[in-house]
Amino acid sequence: IYRAAIFDLDGVLADTARLHLKAWHQLAQELKRPWAEDTGERLKGLERMASLEVILGEESDRFSEKEKIDLASRKNSYYQKLIRSLSPKDLLPGAGELLAWLNEKQIPIALASASKNAQAVLQALEISHYFSTIADPEQSAPKPCPDIFLAAAQGLQVEPELCVAFEDAAAGVAAIKAAKGMTAVGVGSENSLRKADFIVGSLSEFVPKDFFLSAIHAAS
Ligand code: BG6
Ligand code: MG
Repeated sequence: IYRAAIFDLDGVLADTARLHLKAWHQLAQELKRPWAEDTGERLKGLERMASLEVILGEESDRFSEKEKIDLASRKNSYYQKLIRSLSPKDLLPGAGELLAWLNEKQIPIALASASKNAQAVLQALEISHYFSTIADPEQSAPKPCPDIFLAAAQGLQVEPELCVAFEDAAAGVAAIKAAKGMTAVGVGSENSLRKADFIVGSLSEFVPKDFFLSAIHAAS
């Protein structure tokens, strides 16, 4: 029985993983870099500069640090253009319902997203009010390091082993599994998520009452 929920954002709550990929794909095309079949899956969950390294591949050495920063901000400007039109209809299936259920049962909710655009996306989806803690990606080592999930648990003041965390990316599942006994729910295609403790196709398949002890119930 768990006492808190921690969510990744892109590809778990918000239908934005495809927008990150679209923006990276545009940059890759401009740089004439190849886009392999698994590039999309490899990019998922990686922070911005680590993603750029995947795009640049063996040509990474040809770019200075300054040029890399400029390329990463170019991708970010493409992404920000794409998220301008986000609205609550871009919540992924089951996300709104699960957040509302947890909120009603007074189970604390945290965000552990690598994205520096996370707050803007939460606002556009109108779900900011559900989160007691938003772990700051600038203060944590990037996934697959567990830091951001540990920071989220700490923000909620719940032991990591009493937290369930949701991820759509292999790097994110690895981060959760390294977070001192935290439980990982993989959301999406089984292949990349097989290290997760549980896998669901979407959040609408997740049955929260089987996992969480309501704070109301616990107090009585
Ligand atoms: C993660 C996404 O949530 O955030 C990645 O899965 C993205 O695709 C990363 O690269 C960093 O996002 P941002 O908005 O800070 O560039
Ligand atoms: Mg994700």
